[in-house]
Amino acid sequence: MNAQKRQNELRIDRLNAEKRLPRKEWTALLSTWDDSDRAYAAGIARGLADARFGHNVFVRGIVEFSNVCRNDCLYCGIRKSNLNFERYRLTEAEIIECCDAGYEYGFRTFVLQSGEDASWPPNRLAALVRTLKTNHPDCAVTLSVGELERDEYQLLFDAGADRYLLRHETADPEHYAKLHMPNQSWERRMQCLRDLKEIGFQTGCGFMVGSPYQTPNTLAKDMEFITEFRPAMIGIGPFIPHCDTPFRDEPAGRVDLTLFLLSLCRILHPDVLLPATTALGTMDPAGREKGVLAGANVIMPNLSPEQVRAKYMLYNNKTAVDVDTHITTSDLQARLRKIGYTIKVSRGDYGETSC
Ligand code: 5AD
Repeated sequence: MNAQKRQNELRIDRLNAEKRLPRKEWTALLSTWDDSDRAYAAGIARGLADARFGHNVFVRGIVEFSNVCRNDCLYCGIRKSNLNFERYRLTEAEIIECCDAGYEYGFRTFVLQSGEDASWPPNRLAALVRTLKTNHPDCAVTLSVGELERDEYQLLFDAGADRYLLRHETADPEHYAKLHMPNQSWERRMQCLRDLKEIGFQTGCGFMVGSPYQTPNTLAKDMEFITEFRPAMIGIGPFIPHCDTPFRDEPAGRVDLTLFLLSLCRILHPDVLLPATTALGTMDPAGREKGVLAGANVIMPNLSPEQVRAKYMLYNNKTAVDVDTHITTSDLQARLRKIGYTIKVSRGDYGETSC
């Protein structure tokens, strides 16, 4: 065993014991790790997840209800400047229909995601949330519609929304500025996350792995931010270039680094709800299963109508897990069974353990 590996194992053990690492230890770990460190972290991470959740995976049905966006994030395929594809908006009736079908299939969490679309102001969204919660009082509703004012988040929470996903994208303000336009503020995004948590949402942050200009040092800041913020959920997936964005020629993020970071997040925060993301499944056909084996415990199949799926193209070649039958008899269930896991039919709230 070489000296460097021993040191990284000690760092991972220290993270497990203390649930934090000093900045320079994070940076050292993230700049010197190798495959055996990744396997070592995955073993600990999977043990921690199994102790809390058993061999269960939570599912959330995602409805991508509008690809209209006022932002111009340099990495994102649905950025405002991209005129090369068709925009769509689902109606209330269509969204409700997707969720009703999802309910029949066994989903007990619906994630409503969209670009920052002015035709869906918070009061309209709040009315939709109220309807969904009335139709399905045993379900959780998660929103992922970007940056809003605090009183707007409050309105959505009061309407019954349970959870909110807003990736912080990077915890380094200079890195943030390289991924976004000057009108987008890192301070504001961080304030949104603090507001969401204070209001009482189960709040999710997260970032892309291998985004342009990311370094071990910016990743160390992401891990420190997650340590301090203690989100209920963390969304981590590889960056995948989109051909109609300024980052079209940038390399994609690595699957193995994504898996390592998933394991480190699980070790840092054993209770966290950690999805094996669509982007991970896009980069590697077995990516989601690998994610679960690295410590993830959530998968988010797509409930959007067939005819709009290809239009919610954040990055090229985006795949979807389709579930159009009861989840307990789905292909996804069969795939998870092969690695010794099973889908749990429940809301899957933060703090709920299933064994
Ligand atoms: N590759 C991977 N993930 C992306 N996202 C946006 N564009 C891309 C891309 N090109 C992620 C962002 C955003 C989430 C909805 O999707 O992190 O927060």
